[in-house]
Amino acid sequence: MNPKVLISAEEIDAKLAEMGKAITEEYEGKNLLLVGILKGAFIVMADLARHIHTSVEFDFMAVSSYGGQTKTSGVVRILKDLDTQIEGRHVLIVEDIIDSGLTLHYLMKNLRVRNPASLELAALLVKEGVERPPLDIKFSGFEIKPEFVIGYGLDYEELYRNLPFIGVVDESEL
Ligand code: IMP
Ligand code: MG
Repeated sequence: MNPKVLISAEEIDAKLAEMGKAITEEYEGKNLLLVGILKGAFIVMADLARHIHTSVEFDFMAVSSYGGQTKTSGVVRILKDLDTQIEGRHVLIVEDIIDSGLTLHYLMKNLRVRNPASLELAALLVKEGVERPPLDIKFSGFEIKPEFVIGYGLDYEELYRNLPFIGVVDESEL
């Protein structure tokens, strides 16, 4: 399979630098807790965090959404919860991509009841034209067409996460 480059490594880095700057300004002096959603977000989080120039702690959650291979069902199971108590903390969830938004809608609800001082969302990619529950994405990178993408943390059946760019493949080739 031969993925086509949709967003290059350079374009990703420039966008993360912009997002990092906005996040730095927002969270200066607030002891930010970044929460990455495994596995997809680990690469975004690693690179984004290095563009944030204020104090930051890391935590991770792992969730699985039951469903088909390239679609989400909306039923979410927490495989790994936070290590940290978030009551009174400024929490920023980091996601690779928002498609149906169902995973995040569920997660935001789950985390909100733990009473963080603030709870916001950063996502590198947002698929446009997708109907989804209301989600306020405070820091977003690129809007892309609703096609299946791989690379830069995103997988197809656990492969291709290591591509340094965001690529598209013909669904017929998957
Ligand atoms: P959502 O709940 O539909 O917004 O999607 C949640 C998760 O599905 C994302 O965090 C990704 O792990 C995965 N996902 C959604 N779209 C894609 C894609 O185009 N490529 C690879 N994974 C995707
Ligand atoms: Mg995935």
